[in-house]
Amino acid sequence: MKKFSIAVAGGGSTFTPGIVLMLLDNLDKFPIRQIKFYDNDAERQEIIAKACDIIIKEKAPDINFVYTTDPETAFTDVDFVMAHIRVGKYAMREKDEKIPLRHGVLGQETCGPGGISYGMRSIGGVIELVDYMEKYSPNAWMLNYSNPAAIVAEATRRLRPNSKILNICDMPIGIEIRMAEMLGLKSRKDMVIRYFGLNHFGWWTDIRDKQGNDLMPALKEKVAKVGYNVPIEGENTEASWNDTFTKAKDVFAIDPTTLPNTYLKYYFFPDYVVEHSNPNHTRANEVMEGREKFVFGECRAIAEKGTAKDSKLHVDDHASYIVDLARAIAYDTKERMLLIVENDGAISNFDSTAMVEVPCIVGSNGPEKIVQGKIPQFQKGLMEQQVSVEKLTVEAWIEGSYQKLWQAITLSRTVSSAKVAKAILDDLIEANKEFWPVLK
Ligand code: NAD
Ligand code: G6P
Ligand code: MN
Repeated sequence: MKKFSIAVAGGGSTFTPGIVLMLLDNLDKFPIRQIKFYDNDAERQEIIAKACDIIIKEKAPDINFVYTTDPETAFTDVDFVMAHIRVGKYAMREKDEKIPLRHGVLGQETCGPGGISYGMRSIGGVIELVDYMEKYSPNAWMLNYSNPAAIVAEATRRLRPNSKILNICDMPIGIEIRMAEMLGLKSRKDMVIRYFGLNHFGWWTDIRDKQGNDLMPALKEKVAKVGYNVPIEGENTEASWNDTFTKAKDVFAIDPTTLPNTYLKYYFFPDYVVEHSNPNHTRANEVMEGREKFVFGECRAIAEKGTAKDSKLHVDDHASYIVDLARAIAYDTKERMLLIVENDGAISNFDSTAMVEVPCIVGSNGPEKIVQGKIPQFQKGLMEQQVSVEKLTVEAWIEGSYQKLWQAITLSRTVSSAKVAKAILDDLIEANKEFWPVLK
């Protein structure tokens, strides 16, 4: 059986140890001969890498492990690039969240002005990764979950249309795990779903079991009461995420014919989100004090002790979709998965060039979209506005256009006026000097 070589781009990510543990847990399904970490921050990556080196030596000593900041070393002789970079790191996420809040607009990692700001940083970073992969391992596939995935996907469609990059998000997976729990099913894989939307902006339209029984009525009854806020075994959900899962019930009430993605909360209830935000302490602070501190602390402890035996780091089970995706390509499994792909008729009454999130059959030649047909006026209207925000952001990046970025921020449902949009934009330009192209 062929063993694969993996490059992890964003080796210093808080998610890297969980993904490595997940890969090591799945070696029977997806054998690996080599793992290489790549990051442009040597110091940050080294802390994670030293711990992962020990973890790999203890669990799978045959795997060759390398960590580097040199693209040639990282991207040569690889079959898959798993990409999760955060250009500007948490320091910039904090600014993305706090700057809009100063103007009374919500601050979020991937939605509204914060997401646009992050997009303007991510495009160049992800394109650079694609180019390294194509230069040093032209047959490799990139599995990308670097955010903001909607903007990054549109940018790769525009700038690298023939590249072998698959854009994927774990939010629908996290929600489907909750749906399965609500229905008393063993696994989310017992459900066959239909879904359409943009990334962090979509709806389930049909959910059935493998026998074809409609599961939507039972689910809707529960979602109307608790949203997606149900306890999940082995998962200690943070308070702010529980709020988001609960708020899904109000989002659901707007269109009870479908089940919503949790991220729609930011577009339908921006006033609620602002009222419930602390402008001096946002999600970025929570993550720095929580996940980042924990993961880096555990990694330092592993390196000091020279063993991962007592470590509290755990397998990121959510991330097993990454193995499903890699296996689909490697073994032509034809697994049905939600991916962010060019619409091209999958949603028949929507822009054919939009990057949409729809179910696909994934095999060795990549994804084949499953047609979702016509979508209702409500969602169509919302999606046309939002996809224009995403397209204008990418155009602004390509052309260096201040005007287009102002239009993008103005068009976001989260922003109430062009005046506010301009004030936010001017602050974001100042904060992002090091990362954005110069805008004229
Ligand atoms: P993090 O800041 O801990 O890690 C990101 C790493 O990327 C850092 O070590 C940083 O140095 C590195 N980096 C930044 N720019 C780079 C570049 N140009 N080249 C190489 N490396 C670079 O962030 P995190 O919280 O672990 O998240 C990582 C990414 O995964 C983010 O983009 C996040 O939004 C994304 N994410 C996506 C999903 C999804 O559903 N698609 C789920 C979870 C996380
Ligand atoms: C979900 C989304 C990701 C996003 C993450 C943020 O997993 O799908 O796209 O990056 O949530 O989580 P955090 O804990 O960093 O706020
Ligand atoms: Mn996501």
